Amino acid sequence: MSLTRRRFLRGLADMAGVAAAADLGLLAWAAPASVDAGMPRMAMPQLAAPKVALVNPVTLARFVDPLPIPPLARATGQREHPAYPGKKLPMYRMEMRAFSARLHRDLPPTPLWGYGGAFPGPTLEAMRNEPILVEWVNSLPERHFLPIDHTIHGAERSKPEVRTVAHVHGARAPAGSDGYPEDWFAPGHSAVYHYPNAQDAATLWYHDHAMGITRLNIYAGLFGAFIVRDAEEQALGLPSGDCDLPLILCDRLIAKDGQLYYPVSDDPAAPWVSECNGNAILCNGKLYPFAEVEPRRYRLRLVNAANTRFFNLSLSSGQPFQQIASDQGLLPAPLPRERIELYPAERADVVVDFSGLDGKTLQLRHQSEAILEFRVRDRGRRDAGALPATLRAVNRIDPSTAVRDRLLTLGEQDDAGGRPMMMMLGGKHWSAPITEDPRQDSVETWSLLNVTGDVHPIHLHLVRFQVIERRPFDLFAWNANKTLKYTGPAQIPPAHEMGWKDTVRADPGMVTRIIMRFEGEPGRYVWHCHLLEHEDNEMMRPFQLLPASAKT
Ligand code: C2O
Ligand code: CU
Ligand code: CU
Repeated sequence: MSLTRRRFLRGLADMAGVAAAADLGLLAWAAPASVDAGMPRMAMPQLAAPKVALVNPVTLARFVDPLPIPPLARATGQREHPAYPGKKLPMYRMEMRAFSARLHRDLPPTPLWGYGGAFPGPTLEAMRNEPILVEWVNSLPERHFLPIDHTIHGAERSKPEVRTVAHVHGARAPAGSDGYPEDWFAPGHSAVYHYPNAQDAATLWYHDHAMGITRLNIYAGLFGAFIVRDAEEQALGLPSGDCDLPLILCDRLIAKDGQLYYPVSDDPAAPWVSECNGNAILCNGKLYPFAEVEPRRYRLRLVNAANTRFFNLSLSSGQPFQQIASDQGLLPAPLPRERIELYPAERADVVVDFSGLDGKTLQLRHQSEAILEFRVRDRGRRDAGALPATLRAVNRIDPSTAVRDRLLTLGEQDDAGGRPMMMMLGGKHWSAPITEDPRQDSVETWSLLNVTGDVHPIHLHLVRFQVIERRPFDLFAWNANKTLKYTGPAQIPPAHEMGWKDTVRADPGMVTRIIMRFEGEPGRYVWHCHLLEHEDNEMMRPFQLLPASAKT
């Protein structure tokens, strides 16, 4: 049953792609032919045909807009905070506003929501162990412009339509500043969060996390980069300054009048769909931009900010990227990689060497499609030297130090209480009592058992983790009597997954095992699938970090 629906949903995703490639001007949307007759209709959210004509990006001129580089956020002043007695901390103000921007020269302006009135929002930067304060201000309109599903938990009609709460993805932030999904606030309200930045240099990103509408708020434009730097990384002489750029990727569907289109089901009372794949791939908020670069090395901080899509990136010149960091910072050594796959919320910092390419152009590709063009022009500046052979040691956490292994299913449930399909973690709803309750500073392993036909990128707040292994298991034995039977040897992750992570690809039919030390402040956090449609529809659970026990 599960497989049938999966195939069905895959069909929808493929259709969007096919329509784009077929140069139709708008997406062809049709009911798929093969739906298992034995399956209850209500179990499947059927994708409705858009009532508006959509832009087919293939018809647009390529590489006519410069790649936007989000400006650095500037502190508005200094302030004291009770968590840091006697200290004055830089204070930032991030105001969420409605605005319009052209996603491409030849498209009408698109109404968007953004931090600082920009998409992506300004880049926040901090040094390790130098805390900052951020006031997140909701100055958005009272009405949402994307289709809310009020049957989803947390998005009921009794709640304000527009709600936001900001989360810094990958930050070791105290619970009260982590952006708990139920800590949302309505327009006209704000919250001051503090970020200790007691963590290694890494490319983090901030985004909305409001219960039940995160997918819509992020789709509307509410995200930006958050970069943590540290002295150790700075001593490595990696490309810096204007040669160190965030490159945030996402996909959207755009109507011909410029409006964003978010797909809906054919049930107006329950518009949620399980996937949202756009056909327009945006780099820092632009469709098919170009970037002028000099013949030297650049550091690109790749962030996948898409709702559902994974990116498969390569350079048209065939030269490899040198990957230097993953989600939570530097890898032990640069890794040459011809292709980089990024699932939603994953990051990869790469160094691209344009030296010797003066006067040439090359493109960044997603699969076979060029999405960004680099134009190499010599302006007389020279490179900062060679890439170091080693970056930062990543000490493996010894699994024998784990006090606990938690077996957690990534599953889905049809027709749960009259609702169509929903996704679940550990077989539990968001609102069920907390079951994951690690102790502060303890080490645990979590075995993520994917019983669906899809990849789910699983993210834990607060902590960084390491991937131990992926191992195939017998799904039929599991379904029959909940016994875990492995069907093959454990697969050790590839080198690019041997660094610190905060989001991991959990493959179908596999147990993905991760290990982490629960450092941070006790309190309530969340873990979830980062496919935003899943996250919004129950594939998210709270976890409680308990204070360290008094050791005897
Ligand atoms: Cu990217 Cu719960 O977050
Ligand atoms: Cu997060
Ligand atoms: Cu998922």
